[in-house]
Amino acid sequence: MTTAEAPAATRGTTAPMLDVVGVSKSFRGLKAVSTASLSVARGEIVALIGPNGAGKTTLFNLVAGALSPDQGTIRFLGADIAGERPDRVCAAGIGRTFQIVKPFADMTVLENAMVGGFRGTSDRRLARSRAERALRSLDMWLQRERPASALTLPDRKRLEVARALATEPTLLLLDEVMAGLRPTETDQMVAAFRRLNAEHGLTILLIEHVMRAVMALAQRVYVLHHGEIIASGTPQQVTTDPRVLESYLGTGATH
Ligand SMILES: Nc1ncnc2c1ncn2[C@@H]1O[C@H](COP(=O)(O)OP(=O)(O)OP(=O)(O)O)[C@@H](O)[C@H]1O
Ligand SMILES: [Mg+2]
Repeated sequence: MTTAEAPAATRGTTAPMLDVVGVSKSFRGLKAVSTASLSVARGEIVALIGPNGAGKTTLFNLVAGALSPDQGTIRFLGADIAGERPDRVCAAGIGRTFQIVKPFADMTVLENAMVGGFRGTSDRRLARSRAERALRSLDMWLQRERPASALTLPDRKRLEVARALATEPTLLLLDEVMAGLRPTETDQMVAAFRRLNAEHGLTILLIEHVMRAVMALAQRVYVLHHGEIIASGTPQQVTTDPRVLESYLGTGATH
């Protein structure tokens, strides 16, 4: 029986939450993503790694609706979301962070997080409580009344995660949120994601160069190189794969 024919009661337990199949995207002849496939099961933490320019952010943008694929399918909770508008993808339950963080400088930390909290509602109290919960889970509660302009870069990254979390996603896409953090700060964020995963069942797909975080968090890893998935498996499997060592870990990764 194919997935499409499976009764609804079994579909949720057998089909991956996110299923990307044979997706490609070119920019003026440059193939940024080339027939890439990956899947994420409910409750998993999966990492996407690869050198600069490999196409990682482009793949996220395809999933999140910021870009439409040239070919391939993207299914989320059984629905085809390829080419769907970003707000619709967000409404369907995919939260994402942006690699270049741009908080509203004049607004407070809480107000910035509330931007995410308004997902699917205009109820200010609900948006506020979602934002407060997100800030607490990332240990940013004491900073809630500070203007975003006063935050350090690592804290801006945490605020970006809080904004995405405040949308109350089913699947959270994280684009290099641990870049530039000190090892203790990385460990704190890793602990926060582990908690969200274990206690709230949050499913996470993360792009990350910081291998300390990848090794601590990811159950499975995909490696992207020149737009193609060249390896996948457990962190141990991919970090000992000769192709991965040659294309990436020998050079660009932060150990
Ligand atoms: N909107 C765009 N227009 C043209 N080229 C683009 C665009 N977005 C990305 N690219 C190109 O596509 C390739 C993949 O870029 P992408 O940002 O997806 O890589 P990445 O793996 O996220 O890299 P990094 O680790 O540096 O963030 C690069 O060559 C990049 O210059
Ligand atoms: Mg990127």
